[in-house]
Amino acid sequence: MEYMGKVFVNIALTLDGYMAPEGMTMGNPEYKNWGAKWGALMSWLLTQRAFRENLKFGPGGETGPVNDLVRHTMQRAGANIMGKRMFDQGEVSWPEDAPFHTPVYVLTHEKRDPWVRPGGTTFYFVNDGPARALELAKEAAGARDVRISGGADVIQQYLNMGAVEELEIALAPVFFGGGRRLFENLTEPLPQFRIDSVLHGPAATYLRYVRQ
Ligand SMILES: NC(=O)c1ccc[n+]([C@@H]2O[C@H](COP(=O)([O-])OP(=O)(O)OC[C@H]3O[C@@H](n4cnc5c(N)ncnc54)[C@H](OP(=O)(O)O)[C@@H]3O)[C@@H](O)[C@H]2O)c1
Repeated sequence: MEYMGKVFVNIALTLDGYMAPEGMTMGNPEYKNWGAKWGALMSWLLTQRAFRENLKFGPGGETGPVNDLVRHTMQRAGANIMGKRMFDQGEVSWPEDAPFHTPVYVLTHEKRDPWVRPGGTTFYFVNDGPARALELAKEAAGARDVRISGGADVIQQYLNMGAVEELEIALAPVFFGGGRRLFENLTEPLPQFRIDSVLHGPAATYLRYVRQ
């Protein structure tokens, strides 16, 4: 059956264009101050009720348009694709009930059996490249959308394939000065997007672009 969903990216970005601070490795948040930098990039998200519920942070949290956006992003994804570095960090920091509740296709050179988590998340390790991972994700997503979750390396590959239909960026007014830059390694023909919507929040600006 023809896939009717969308392939989308939804990430947080610093003003100087980074998705992750330099030195971001789990277990040592003081190293190069990456923990504080990551917290500043994600401060708008950590306080939202939908995010807190999903991560089992307990009751409370903000409601309103940003929370609606966060909830919508979680609900629309029927499958996720991510890179091995993002997975490695999450493997040691996500709760046992991982926060995706969908199949997750992890692009990697490592051969590994699927990892089934309670709550509907199963990680599949894909060694056959981004096109195959996307094929699998579309099959699994059904009527819902496919989220290219990150990190930068993987998003760049899907941008270069022309596969990203919607690009959603929470632009946080912080600088990293170094780290994993999102917009690099892009190749011709470059993807073309138009502005779809902008939402202003107190800790980020939410930019939504749609492929032309
Ligand atoms: N700001 C945000 O909203 C946001 C969102 C998501 C992630 N992040 C952050 O982004 C960082 C990770 O991004 P990243 O760019 O460093 O790495 P990444 O995209 O998560 O993972 C890259 C790795 O995935 C594997 N891989 C990628 N493409 C592959 C292919 N075609 N075939 C086989 N294996 C492939 C390779 O690992 P192997 O060779 O080892 O298998 C590669 O080194 C993390 O710090 C994460 O927290 C930020």
